[in-house]
Amino acid sequence: MSKKTLQLDKSHRLLAPRIAYLVTSIDKGGIVNAAPFSNVTSVSTDPQRLVLSVYKEWDTIRNIQEVGQFVVNVPSKHLLRQIWICGDKYAGHPIPSKVNELEIAGLEAMPSEKVQPPRVKDCFGHLECEVQWIKDVGNHFLVLGDIVAASYTEGCLDENMVQVINKTLPLLEVCRGYFTSPADVVEVDRETIKNEVNGKLAQKGIRVPPEIKKYEKLKISEK
Ligand SMILES: Cc1cc2nc3c(=O)[nH]c(=O)nc-3n(C[C@H](O)[C@H](O)[C@H](O)COP(=O)(O)O)c2cc1C
Repeated sequence: MSKKTLQLDKSHRLLAPRIAYLVTSIDKGGIVNAAPFSNVTSVSTDPQRLVLSVYKEWDTIRNIQEVGQFVVNVPSKHLLRQIWICGDKYAGHPIPSKVNELEIAGLEAMPSEKVQPPRVKDCFGHLECEVQWIKDVGNHFLVLGDIVAASYTEGCLDENMVQVINKTLPLLEVCRGYFTSPADVVEVDRETIKNEVNGKLAQKGIRVPPEIKKYEKLKISEK
């Protein structure tokens, strides 16, 4: 299979699709702002932390710098239209800073449990964050947030706190204006793969290491 070189300014396209989250923040006067962000990822599970990468010109980063808090709301694909409305500047229909995008989009705000910016009731998941630090990483600021409260719509997670994908139908952006949503969940055949890996290690005369039960609790030095 031959490979083609991708121009560097389009390299992030290979990191798609990515979930479109709806981030809510407030300015110091309390005006609510909502904008979609796909550059969001979990970076630590103990403590629970995530990062968010925000273009320097957006109201969201000004609010986060002013107030030090934000909420990552997780929408389903049926909210595509509303998400696109909230992506106003990127989408090409800018909404002035003093206007609450939730009202234009017809989305409902509800109080958060621990932070001042509201949750978006229509979304199925909510991560309330306190800012740890903000770093200049280029034309974006990288924000590290401590997750101080998390909540979800009843029925969207199963008894093991695993997302019920055919109910939540998360929305993922492929590239500007094009979205997808997962249709199914496939389970990896863990035991067959484990036996295959252990067999290959044995063939090479390598001792099979003990299974890691609680990898979250591992210290860096043990890895
Ligand atoms: C699906 C989607 C994902 C986006 N992801 C990001 C992102 O990760 N980082 C970013 O800076 N802007 C992102 N944007 C653009 C902002 O959401 C958009 O420009 C918004 O108007 C900024 O609003 P604000 O100025 O009120 O903060 C995204 C837009 C959409 C529609």
